[in-house]
Amino acid sequence: MLRTASSAGKQIIRLSRRCSTATSSPNANTDSKPKPPLRPRPTPLTDEIIRVDHAGELGADRIYAGQMAILGNGPMGKTIEHMWEQEKEHRKQFEHLIQHHRVRPTVMAPIWNVAAFALGAGTALMGEKAAMACTVAVETVIVEHYNDQLRQIMESPNPDKELLETITKFRDEEQEHHDTGIDCGAEQAPFYNALTEVIKFGCKTAIAISKKI
Ligand SMILES: [Fe+2]
Ligand SMILES: [Fe+2]
Repeated sequence: MLRTASSAGKQIIRLSRRCSTATSSPNANTDSKPKPPLRPRPTPLTDEIIRVDHAGELGADRIYAGQMAILGNGPMGKTIEHMWEQEKEHRKQFEHLIQHHRVRPTVMAPIWNVAAFALGAGTALMGEKAAMACTVAVETVIVEHYNDQLRQIMESPNPDKELLETITKFRDEEQEHHDTGIDCGAEQAPFYNALTEVIKFGCKTAIAISKKI
């Protein structure tokens, strides 16, 4: 009984020492490194823009990855690779922005990842021109989407300059991808109109979902 009381006493002493060390150390909370100021929460507009664009650039990266998996060694390989490299940079930039502004990524990211690769690879399996038709359809929707966002940002009370510059640059590169697709014979793909309309509808649906969840 005495031994039990004694060990309980030691336990209390140990605990109280541990607590006092944690709270009264002269070094506690005195990190000499200056901490960057906390960024304010993004506005609902910025939050929505970064989430949906992050999802879109993830999708674009995966579409071109799918195309490269099928056509990478063919005559269109270099052209597709060049566009893919730009999409990787777009994705990287939005990955930076999503962390920087503490924006929650879309919960659909794993699904877009798989669906976009399947879209890129699937159209590439239909041939080079169908792959280019896919590029034209996707980039048409993205250019319109980025133009809508640029208008929204410019009309907002405090336009985010970094976001404006980023989206303007990417919009121009997406337009180049669209034009490359046309130059490479997209319109000669079998069922061009039906194919591009279906892909555009899919992209617009993915955009609407990624804005919200
Ligand atoms: Fe992009
Ligand atoms: Fe693009």
